[in-house]
Amino acid sequence: MANKDTIILGIESSCDDTSAAILKKETILSNETANQAVHESYGGVVPELASRAHQQHILPVVDAALKKAKVDIQDIDAIAFTRGPGLLGSLIVGTSFAKSLALGLNIPIIDVNHMHGHVLAHFIDDDEKEKPKFPFLCLTISGGHTQIVWVKDHLDMEVIGTTRDDAAGEAFDKVAKLLDLPYPGGPLIDQHAQLGNPKAFQFTQPVVDKLDYSFSGLKTNVLQFLQREVKKDAGFIKKNLNDICASLQFTIVEILFKKLLLAGEQKNCKDIAIAGGVSANSAIRERLKTEGEKRNWNTFIPKFEYCTDNAAMIAITGRFHYLKGEFSDQSVSADARLRV
Ligand code: KG4
Ligand code: ZN
Repeated sequence: MANKDTIILGIESSCDDTSAAILKKETILSNETANQAVHESYGGVVPELASRAHQQHILPVVDAALKKAKVDIQDIDAIAFTRGPGLLGSLIVGTSFAKSLALGLNIPIIDVNHMHGHVLAHFIDDDEKEKPKFPFLCLTISGGHTQIVWVKDHLDMEVIGTTRDDAAGEAFDKVAKLLDLPYPGGPLIDQHAQLGNPKAFQFTQPVVDKLDYSFSGLKTNVLQFLQREVKKDAGFIKKNLNDICASLQFTIVEILFKKLLLAGEQKNCKDIAIAGGVSANSAIRERLKTEGEKRNWNTFIPKFEYCTDNAAMIAITGRFHYLKGEFSDQSVSADARLRV
């Protein structure tokens, strides 16, 4: 059982961010992340380059997290690490590092599901904010996933809606590439959209069964639209960048909320959360607030630094496993396709 001062080191390396965090009880003492600029010019994460960069970053990042938290490495009680889902080469770096360090320190390891981490970021005790009450709905939107999750308890979650093709973050990033914006394009589209007209252009919204999503049609629709317009005027993208971004963002928000509203009705649930890198998007945050006011929802938006990939969310998830006595042994290996 965790005592009041249990200290957990969290390690995240599932994609292109190397992150380490120190959690004492439910409070984050440090959360250090090294991003990988190496992918910017490729329009997406290059797996081989990502694993190499994790190798270079992991030791300095863990060291920085310990220093910032003013915690001695000998005082760590357990190490929580992301086992999956994610890029295999990237996951292997974090997993192997966590296993070896734990062996050296003779402390337990805890394997964490990255998607649990995004949802449980809501339980980091950094401020006076109210936490969601079980059961609640969480729209988890990232570069690799788009899921509506029915969260029954800290570690008891069910995916009730998911994307059939691209994730919401991919829709942002792939269109950004068409617009000649560097990777990751999501935050840049967000910035340009704030200066544009969301009704300037109309893009298609998919018709998908149940609570599922699809974003590949939207990407193709924008591609064909741009090809048509650029044929008529080579400077079309430059001249209309803000309006294109605003219209794309508007469409993605519409698609996301159509199913989230349906899920809220089906589950008769008023506690609604968002999580994952795409939940940093200003229009999504705004829309959640307005829908919440209209429908009497209690809405939950993670702090900005806990939206995109970070080790704080892995450490807090590790704590919930720790409290249940759920540890891994040294035979555990990374799992790129780990399910919720
Ligand atoms: O959760 P995350 O850091 O990594 C994954 O697990 O995938 O999410 C990264 C995704 C990228 O697709 C990035 O473009 C998107 O989150 N993103 C945004 C914004 N900030 C990050 N998308 C739209 N608007 C933003 N402000
Ligand atoms: Zn993520």
